[in-house]
Amino acid sequence: MTRLVVLTGAGISAESGVPTFRGPDGLWEGHRIEDVATPEAFERDPHTVLRFYDERRRALHGVEPNPAHTALARLERAIGADLLIVTQNVDDLHERAGTRNLVHMHGELRRAQCLSCGARPAWDADLAPRPACPVCGERMLRPDVVWFGEMPYELDRIEQAVVAADVFVSIGTSGAVYPAAGYVALAAAFGARTVELNLESSDALIPFDDARTGPASTLVPAWVDEVMRAGA
Ligand code: OAD
Repeated sequence: MTRLVVLTGAGISAESGVPTFRGPDGLWEGHRIEDVATPEAFERDPHTVLRFYDERRRALHGVEPNPAHTALARLERAIGADLLIVTQNVDDLHERAGTRNLVHMHGELRRAQCLSCGARPAWDADLAPRPACPVCGERMLRPDVVWFGEMPYELDRIEQAVVAADVFVSIGTSGAVYPAAGYVALAAAFGARTVELNLESSDALIPFDDARTGPASTLVPAWVDEVMRAGA
């Protein structure tokens, strides 16, 4: 069986209406990263940081998965555990499209993390009012998203899958943030064929074997059709 690892970034959700980070209308525009996405920002001004993520979480109610998310879910139904999706996105559009074998390496908007007891409960309400942790009762919840300077989740699992992959596919990510940006070189070093599906060529460390440019909502379903025809 062909083993596939698909790395996704903000570009896969752009056509659903979730802003990317670095585009002209990007999410960081108007916000300095260090004011909203670092542990120091949270210590300095927790209310601003919590409100920033509360807004992002609320915005998820108004968006839906697009054909790129649903095509990847269709591929998983066909090939099962031979496909691992590693997303840098904190939205829940892959799950809502039906994907199950998924790693949220930068965390999830719809999850909180308790700074007192370490619980990571599913969470859909605002955090700025400082609600109590459902496990320990302390009012020390933060969004369960990975901030700059923090360690992404499940790196061992991801690296094992990347080195074992026959095909590594990068979708809608600029290649600006490590360790995710390094996975293409790691996959290639271990013999994987590398594919990029992006609106424009990214700043990848090494050239992809196959780089296709265009919107994810058309490129991804077309690529999934090809893989399924080839009987991956
Ligand atoms: P970026 O905003 O850096 O990059 C988005 C990428 O998507 C760019 O390469 C665009 O060309 C591409 N893109 C935009 N629209 C697209 C479309 N319709 N179809 C296909 N591609 C499209 O977002 P990420 O690479 O995901 O981390 O950013 C990586 C990390 O940086 C994020 O997870 C976040 C951020 O800081 C943390 O917050 C820790």
